Amino acid sequence: MKINFNVLDRHYNKYKEEYNKAALDVLKSGIYILGENVTKFENNFKEYIGTKYCVGLNSGLDSLIFALKALNIKEGDEVIVPANTFIATVFAITENKAKPIFVEPDEFFNLDYKKIEEKITKNTKAIITVHLYGQASNLDKIQEISKKHNLFLIEDCAQSHGSNYKNKKTGTWGDIGCFSFYPTKNLGGFGDGGIITTNNHEIYKRIKLLRNYGSDKKYIHEIEGYNSRLDEIQASLLNVKLKYLEEIKNERKIIAQKYLDGIKNTNIILPKIAPNSEHVWHLFVIQTKDRENLKRYLEKKGIQTQIHYPIAPHLSECYKYLGYKKGDFSITEKLSNEILSLPLYNGMKNEEIEYIIKILNNYNTK
Ligand SMILES: Cc1ncc(COP(=O)(O)O)c(C=O)c1O
Repeated sequence: MKINFNVLDRHYNKYKEEYNKAALDVLKSGIYILGENVTKFENNFKEYIGTKYCVGLNSGLDSLIFALKALNIKEGDEVIVPANTFIATVFAITENKAKPIFVEPDEFFNLDYKKIEEKITKNTKAIITVHLYGQASNLDKIQEISKKHNLFLIEDCAQSHGSNYKNKKTGTWGDIGCFSFYPTKNLGGFGDGGIITTNNHEIYKRIKLLRNYGSDKKYIHEIEGYNSRLDEIQASLLNVKLKYLEEIKNERKIIAQKYLDGIKNTNIILPKIAPNSEHVWHLFVIQTKDRENLKRYLEKKGIQTQIHYPIAPHLSECYKYLGYKKGDFSITEKLSNEILSLPLYNGMKNEEIEYIIKILNNYNTK
């Protein structure tokens, strides 16, 4: 059997008529930028998440960059960030000329709150927590630390659409929540997109200006800005998909549970679920000592896997100038050598899931 890592058109095909109509309606409308679909999506999304405001943007990376900009984070400032994250989280900090201060992950792959305070200095301005792979990080503790030290809290929710911590959605705990609509995400679009959520009117206004050349009224430029608008076609398609996000989430949970119950191999460590955190399974990430061997074995059996992520940000070529070396963040580095993401997508068939479980259970390192 051949199983790709992601098969995005399974979900599309299920609701094809609705998606096709939504896109076609935009094409016919003659309005392609900042029209009623973006407004409608922003209203629907903020209602779903439970914040007062949100601003649609053209990527998750921009949502993070603008979040820090709106909080006036700049050169000389330090921002606490998980060492174990996708590099975009870190790009947002260095793009604003601030310094990333890496903190190692806990056993759930997320920012270890117990290691934050030792990294706080007089220059620390904010904490970015990432709800990696779709599992909410320990927002209680992280929020408590940010309040205690008077730091801004930003949530990178690029992988956690719909996930709750103590029954309260990710994206509502911090000063700003940042989301990506990259197609593979649980609420993925059909191209690039992103959004910020906030309860703060000033932040909302500033990010709205930043996305559109610093302008709210045509040719009146209040601040220096960018072009980072969520477009009408994406917004119309996301309006359709948002209706199904709970269904998408529940289906992913069922698949993940099958993996959790079915995979029984002492060479494989399964992902753990943290107390109070909801896991929406953007990714199902296992750990194994000889990762390359397992990856090759699965490939031979027709199962495609991916690694999220093979090189930690602090060891990436682009951050050589930060001066880190191998061993500086040993937990993160160990993970980047041992983790492997299994196929998990909406519309996955039972026989595909069972085949993967069977092949994994037959895996023998010798
Ligand atoms: C944790 C995390 N942060 C930020 C991003 C950036 O989002 P985008 O690809 O939409 O720019 C992504 C996704 O790619 C991500 O996984």
